[in-house]
Amino acid sequence: MNMDENLVLNENYGKHSGKKLKMLLPEKKLKSRVRDMALEISEGYKEKDAAPIVIGILNGSFIFMSDLVREINIDVEVDFMRIASYGNATSSSGTVRMIKDINCDITGRHILVVEDIVDTGLSMNFLKNRLEQAGTKSLKFATLLMKEDTQIDFGMDYIGFNIPDKYVVGYGLDLAQRLRNLKSIYYIE
Ligand code: IMP
Repeated sequence: MNMDENLVLNENYGKHSGKKLKMLLPEKKLKSRVRDMALEISEGYKEKDAAPIVIGILNGSFIFMSDLVREINIDVEVDFMRIASYGNATSSSGTVRMIKDINCDITGRHILVVEDIVDTGLSMNFLKNRLEQAGTKSLKFATLLMKEDTQIDFGMDYIGFNIPDKYVVGYGLDLAQRLRNLKSIYYIE
């Protein structure tokens, strides 16, 4: 598979077969933006009294998170939460479930939540409500992608790219649990 070009899904993709994947954000562009975000984050936390805990939201953020923390040049701790809102569909089911909670105690700590994408904003809302009750010292939110049509303004602290309201895959983002391993981000035509 040539990752630099537009792709067509084969018959293994069932009802999605024949659909075209169009390049939206090539690997190089992702790398450079992630590096800039990491520097901005490092700058924002360097005066703080204690290392922040960076919480990645699984599964979608796993690649972004690992690239991001490796470019952060201050001391950080890392943990993960897993929530689900979509099942295997390409539109929100309207409900968010917690599947895996964090392992660490976040009371009195600086917390940075790392999401892959904000679409309807339901997941972000759920996370905010959950974490605001924990008595953190500070609570910030980063997302790699922000869909333009998101209705709720969360005042996200760090945004990688504002993107059109299309279904995107690659760089951790899936279609029915697949295509997460593409190095670039594509939208489904
Ligand atoms: P929200 O709750 O509607 O904001 O959706 C957030 C979650 O849905 C993300 O963390 C993703 O896991 C998933 N999601 C939303 N839009 C897309 C997309 O375009 N591609 C892949 N996953 C998506």
